[in-house]
Amino acid sequence: MNALRDILSNFSIFAPLSLAVTIPWIVFKILGRTWLKKSYNTLNGKVIVITGASSGLGEALAHEFYRYGAQVVLCARRRQELERVRSDLLHTHCKDTTHPPIIIPLNLNNFDQLKECVEKILTITSRIDILINCGGISHRGTVCDTTLDVYQRIMSVNYIGTLALTKAVLSDMVRKKSGHIVFISSVQGLVALPERSAYSASKHALQAFADSLRAEIASKDISVTVISPGYIKTSLSLNALTSNGDPHGIMDVTTESGYSPEYAAKKIVTAVVQKKKEIILSSLLPRLAVFIRKYLPFLYFYIMNKRAQKKTNLTS
Ligand SMILES: NC(=O)c1ccc[n+]([C@@H]2O[C@H](COP(=O)([O-])OP(=O)(O)OC[C@H]3O[C@@H](n4cnc5c(N)ncnc54)[C@H](OP(=O)(O)O)[C@@H]3O)[C@@H](O)[C@H]2O)c1
Repeated sequence: MNALRDILSNFSIFAPLSLAVTIPWIVFKILGRTWLKKSYNTLNGKVIVITGASSGLGEALAHEFYRYGAQVVLCARRRQELERVRSDLLHTHCKDTTHPPIIIPLNLNNFDQLKECVEKILTITSRIDILINCGGISHRGTVCDTTLDVYQRIMSVNYIGTLALTKAVLSDMVRKKSGHIVFISSVQGLVALPERSAYSASKHALQAFADSLRAEIASKDISVTVISPGYIKTSLSLNALTSNGDPHGIMDVTTESGYSPEYAAKKIVTAVVQKKKEIILSSLLPRLAVFIRKYLPFLYFYIMNKRAQKKTNLTS
């Protein structure tokens, strides 16, 4: 009886307290959702250029932005794949096609062509609101074995080509004093792994470039968002270049078990409409790796040595 009385008296203290916390929390959540819904609506009619739109994450992003009424400009090398994506967009989302997707084939390795491509887009759409730099290639191979040509190709696509396209788009954004540039980097742009030196270095370079750019153009009302995904289930490992430049051709277990591109695309679109400066899009382990690299570097060096040794033992 006494115990019951204690519980009831405690309840009478805690009930108003918990209500005082719960009610503002619920109101905060509802307001947040309403605001987010409104933010998604701002995508309607926006011109969004997406590189790497012929497969994987870029393709999923094209669907997500198109779903919200954006005019998507699909860019990559393979025209046929871009046409497949355009056809899928038109057939999957049954809506009037006021903003039909546009196809602009481009090669991020061909820097001179990129300015021309941007001019072509501007002739059709007269503006670019958001640039999503998603095109990229990965690497498999040790530093000793990897040829300079492979380093050059990966750096060209993931860094210099992306930078060149960004510069070409930027002139118009600066003139109009509005715009948003998004870089799809990687957790490997924050934490380097053995046998990924070219990829990790290119994504680290991209992160640094984005940080400098963000500060320089903040006063011109242009936003910069860096997305650092962990693993996503795409063809990235299949298309990765080996030490001699051949495609790796293997679906890695880590990639296979990664987030679905559709899930990753939803998270990225939310980060874009919220104008986040950067997000890490991954499960706990890659986030932990970023933490360890920053605050416990000796542990990171130890773990990476072990990982590299294990790989050497497996291949020797
Ligand atoms: N999948 C993951 O686990 C993961 C994790 C972190 C970050 N990311 C990043 O996500 C982005 C998208 O990759 P994904 O995972 O979707 O892999 P993916 O399916 O292999 O897609 C790569 C895209 O990049 C394009 N691309 C490659 N080389 C190009 C070039 N020279 N010029 C123009 N476009 C080129 C490809 O199109 P074409 O072949 O038609 O040119 C393709 O559309 C990459 O930047 C990647 O680094 C992926």
